[in-house]
Amino acid sequence: MIGSTIYRLAVCASTNDVAKTLAQAGAETGTVVIADEQTGGRGTKGRGWHSAKGRGLYASVILRPQRRDIALLPAAAGLAVSDAIKLATGLETRLKWPNDVVWHGRKIAGVLSEAAFLGSAASYVVVGIGINVRHGRRDFPAEIAPAATSLRLALRRLPDTAKLEAALWQALDVWFGKFAAGKKRDIIDAFESRLVYPVGSAVKVEREKESVTGTLRGLDAQARLILESDGRILLLTAAEIVTILPYSLPR
Ligand code: BTN
Repeated sequence: MIGSTIYRLAVCASTNDVAKTLAQAGAETGTVVIADEQTGGRGTKGRGWHSAKGRGLYASVILRPQRRDIALLPAAAGLAVSDAIKLATGLETRLKWPNDVVWHGRKIAGVLSEAAFLGSAASYVVVGIGINVRHGRRDFPAEIAPAATSLRLALRRLPDTAKLEAALWQALDVWFGKFAAGKKRDIIDAFESRLVYPVGSAVKVEREKESVTGTLRGLDAQARLILESDGRILLLTAAEIVTILPYSLPR
């Protein structure tokens, strides 16, 4: 069960790092580390995660998956965060591949998954979750403010944090349960149905050195983005993509 053991910290550098240390020391699957503040919060692609005291939910979950194919775990976590927000606040969020949780075009939560391998199998995975909860507009650093929002800003009132936490552990149980049971199609279908840019829409995918335009065809079982471009199918990994934008394909 997710959250059967919870370590609550006032402050740490990164809950993912604390969770990794605990995992290496043998902590069991489902163990959660949650902090009120992070001094070195980490995001995807080597970016930081703004983690001011008392503003966000900063949590990491230790998992010990029995499966080798862990690629869909971050997608399952994104779905769980979206469900938990709905359950606790009523807000409908969407997902921006690979696993940003978005409300009306602005990012409200993110997931950073980090795995340690023994040979080709994961000995543990740490799934880090950051949700913007009590931020006011001026709480975000200037560089992320235009693209970010919080539950408080979306609701125009302070959300119930205890309810959000309880909903998160519950939703993670549901989606990690599906993952453990091998229900890949359920994860892929749900993820596709909540995409900000829906399956069938035209998008421009920006990579480090070039961009490619095409029609979004969904996600494959390795959580890669399926893009049809000039009659060819491209399978794109999160690591190679900078951003995805809507696009009007020429007729
Ligand atoms: C992203 O860039 O979208 C992922 C953000 C993940 C942030 C969370 S906060 C809790 C955990 N600890 C970290 O240092 N990062 C993750």
